[in-house]
This record gives sequence, structure tokens and C-alpha cells, in this order.
Amino acid sequence: MKGLILSGGKGTRMRPITHTAAKQLLPVANKPILYYAVEAIKDAGIDELGIIVSPETGDDVRAVVGDGKRWDINIEYIVQAEPKGLAHAVKTARPFLEDSTFVMYLGDNLIKDGVAPLVERFHNKKGDALILLKEVANPSSFGVAQLNDSGQILCLEEKPQKPKSNLALVGVYLFNKNIHTAIDDIKPSKRGELEITDAIQRLIDVEYRVDSHILKSWWLDTGKKDDMLEANRVVLDEMTNYVMEGSLEGSTVVSGRVHVGKGSVLKDCTVRGPAVIGDNCIIENSYVGPFTSIGNGAKVSHAEIQHSILRENCQIVDFNGRIEDSLIGVNVELTRGHRKPLAYKLMLGDDSKVEVV
Ligand code: DAU
Repeated sequence: MKGLILSGGKGTRMRPITHTAAKQLLPVANKPILYYAVEAIKDAGIDELGIIVSPETGDDVRAVVGDGKRWDINIEYIVQAEPKGLAHAVKTARPFLEDSTFVMYLGDNLIKDGVAPLVERFHNKKGDALILLKEVANPSSFGVAQLNDSGQILCLEEKPQKPKSNLALVGVYLFNKNIHTAIDDIKPSKRGELEITDAIQRLIDVEYRVDSHILKSWWLDTGKKDDMLEANRVVLDEMTNYVMEGSLEGSTVVSGRVHVGKGSVLKDCTVRGPAVIGDNCIIENSYVGPFTSIGNGAKVSHAEIQHSILRENCQIVDFNGRIEDSLIGVNVELTRGHRKPLAYKLMLGDDSKVEVV
């Protein structure tokens, strides 16, 4: 079996953050989202992985993920010239996939239980496809499945205005080679994309066996800022230990599940976990609250930060205010001129400079 991770696309919903970076490289608990997908594939015993990339962000993805040696697997990069849909990505990957069975994993998705149990189920049931479903409150934002009373799939629709159920298609799919014929048989959708949902519907129409599994554990699609913060919250909430590799100075108090990386200095701070602070950070006279991730090399002083993601090398200096529910890009400089306590909710792209006066 092979793995195929989709890390192309445009990431328009995460602008301005994705003007300068692939959305799949954004960090959740200080680790690129894409790493979670690679690890799930590796943990399922798959050692041949293809990653679909776009011409714009392919080099960045390659630089961050590498050739797979870190995980003892082989990674091949496949450039999709334009984001013409998930089924188009599979078509582009056909020379890599050959006639192998494969797990397709959307690079901006995270699932709690990984893919190993699904691979086992797929092999045991000997079907042509296995899809994952999850009950959601907003089904029209996803592919949606309608099942009959015995749990068989009746039909699938991509982002329907009037969803026939609350069962969303999760971005992890298992296929055998018959999906390629189904993809050859479908036409682009109204939004001009070759939809994998339509290809799976085609499998059902020609009576191939499409099995489904309803996930009970968490699934996160990190398409928008609040989804990223939710992913960060859920992953940090699962952290079980305390790791202190930095130094604590002055009156600093650290409580709960907190990771602090090498070379970081926390002076006169209060840190309440779950939270992660990367390597070589300097945090002074500040409060770091629950569900916060701070990237390597960040500098923070006179600030309160909670439920937020701060990326590498950002500087929030003499801020004298509270930042919450925020996603702050690489190298952002944020300062504030007066001392009246205020709270801010921000989404700042890489290299921004903001002075609040
Ligand atoms: O997250 C689950 C949903 O993912 C499913 O419920 C939908 O049925 C499925 O169509 C998909 O919908 P999205 O609108 O969320 O897909 P998105 O455009 O965000 O793309 C998902 C991933 O695939 C993302 O990492 C970018 C990548 N991609 C996307 C396209 C359109 C590619 O690599 N190539 C592409 O052409």
C-alpha cells in the first residue's frame, strides 16, 4: 500500500498567513500540520509516500518535510500544475501510485486515531474504497454522505446547499486501483474541479464496494484561522507531560503541562499549561495562558497571551495588553504605545509590523 498526501491548492481562506507559506506547513503545537499526516501514514506501516505540491509552495514543503529519512520512509514530490480538484490530484499522481492500493490524506486534516486501524479494516473487508465520516454541525461546508438504515452509502454530494445528512466526509480515504477508472469517467463540477466525492459516487453507481466508517474521535479540518486555533487547543489538550529544557529566572511560575525548548529564558513570568514554548525564546514579565503555542526564537515582554499561535521569531515587546484567539505569523513585530489594558484578536501575516497607539 502507498500513501498520498495532498498539499497543493491555494490556501485562500488562510490569507494573509498563506501569502507567504503553504497552509499545510502552519504549526499546530509547534509542529507543521503536514507532519501529523506523514506520521499517521508511517504509523500505518506505509513507507512509500507521494506528496502533491503546488508550483508556488512546493519548494517550501520539500524544505520542511524532506525526503522522508527522518521517518525512515521514501517521499516523492508530485507537482500539480493547477489546483483542479482532489480527483485531479490523484490523476496527477497516477504514475507514482501505479495499480497499488493507497491511503489519500488531505494535508490540512488531522484525525486523532491515525490511519492504522483503517488500513486494517480496508484489507479485511476487501472493498474498493473506504471513506470516513463524522457528524458535524455545518455539513454544507463539506462533502456529505447519505446512508440507509443498514449503514450503506446511498449518495455523496460535495458542499450541498441542502445537505441530506449531518455526516461530513473526512479528508482521509482508502482506495484500490478502480478509483482511477472512476476519475476518468467524471466531469469537472460547477466550481470547475474534478471532485473526489463525484469519483466515489461513480464507484457506487457502477456497483463497486464503498465501505464507510463513522469517526467518534476528533477530526479537524484546519482550513481557517479558528480551525487552526481549535486544532492547537485539541492537540495541546492531549499533551500529557511537562518538559523543561529552558531556564526559569526571577519570580517565574510554570504550572500544568508545559513544554519549553532549549535555550529559552522565562523571566518573571507566569505560564499556565497546556502550552508550548519553542527553542531560544525570551519571555519576560508576561503571562502565557492555556492553549498557547509560541514558535522558536520569539521575544515577548509585558504581554498576556492565551489561546493563540505565535510563529517563529515574532516579537511582541512592551505590549502592555492581552492577546487572545490570535494567529501571528513569522517575524511579526508588535508593539503598543500606552498602558491602558486592552485585549486584541489578531490574524497577522508573516513579516507584519504593527504599532498599536
Ligand atoms: O476536509 C474535508 C473536506 O475536504 C471534504 O469534506 C470534502 O469533501 C473535500 O472536497 C475537501 O474539501 P475542502 O474544500 O476542504 O478541500 P480543499 O480545497 O481545502 O483541499 C484539501 C487539501 O487538498 C488541501 O491540503 C489542499 C489540497 N489540494 C486541494 C486541491 C483543490 C490539492 O493538493 N490539490 C487541489 O487541486
